[in-house]
Amino acid sequence: MKKRTLTGITTTGTLHIGNYVGAIRPAIRDSRNPDVQSFYFMADLHGLIKCQDPERLAKSRMQISATWLAAGLDPERVVFYRQSDIPEIPLLNWLLTCVTGKGLMNRAHAYKASVDAAVAAGKEPDADVTMGLYCYPVLMAADILMFNANEVPVGHDQLQHLEIARDIASTFNYLYAPKNKPFFTLPQATGGSAVEVLPGLDGRKMSKSYNNVIPLFEGGRAALDEAISRIVTDSRLPGERKDPDSTSLTVIYEAFSTPEESKTFREALVAGMGWGEAKKQLADKIDAEIGPMRERYNYLMSHPEELEDTLLKGAAKARVYAQELMEKLRE
Ligand code: TRP
Repeated sequence: MKKRTLTGITTTGTLHIGNYVGAIRPAIRDSRNPDVQSFYFMADLHGLIKCQDPERLAKSRMQISATWLAAGLDPERVVFYRQSDIPEIPLLNWLLTCVTGKGLMNRAHAYKASVDAAVAAGKEPDADVTMGLYCYPVLMAADILMFNANEVPVGHDQLQHLEIARDIASTFNYLYAPKNKPFFTLPQATGGSAVEVLPGLDGRKMSKSYNNVIPLFEGGRAALDEAISRIVTDSRLPGERKDPDSTSLTVIYEAFSTPEESKTFREALVAGMGWGEAKKQLADKIDAEIGPMRERYNYLMSHPEELEDTLLKGAAKARVYAQELMEKLRE
């Protein structure tokens, strides 16, 4: 059997170039490897935990699907679906919930962070905790175990969830599976290129919550230029020598260019290139890669029926795997 990898993105916002460089681009590269079978999905059930605005959730789900396809994911070759189109996932979620210790959930970072924030604000510890948030890791385990993924490329913040998924899988196997015929593969978190972290406008990790992002497709070239104009630099003038490591501009440039190009860019800064010129070069560089994709993105966003068709076909494909496993588990 081919090795399987699986990636999900929670559908609560629009994507930025940090998501593109850190997750989407490497995932698409991996999806072309003939020795690997990959699964990509929009985690919209997880989205409900953080976002109770139906319109925003629906829009984000569309934007993220269109982004994957525009960036070059081939839905014929991979399994590409919406989590909520796979009814077997919530069913598996329940089977797993019944073998998951409450103590395991008590230790989950997202839950603990919510409790800490509530206590710090003088509220009841569980004031902001829904059962969705509390049991988030079980649903994530169901996503992964449903397709027996061997590898899940995740960032640092998701490592604990992978540990929990392994834990739950072992318990379930131990309780129910015949000896030597486990139902679930224990998934591995993989890092490497898939967890490259891009700095944002202010040098901290590019993240919605820091409000320091460069949008990927939304807003077009104008939004790209506008965000780039806000990248923090010092106030050295054109002609003055600049330290290429004094700003995130250079790192972002690097993510879109060859080592040669990036070397030339750094040398030009040292030789006195103005920050304005550097920003223009960066915008051109990024646009050379994502501009053609943006056209496809805009096309898909204005043809929701095509997007829908692709997603439903993907769900049918995914359900073949899901139903087969579910039948065994029901027994
Ligand atoms: N929790 C992930 C995130 O917030 C999204 C996600 C849901 C996911 N289910 C998954 C990622 C399964 C990988 C595998 O980024």
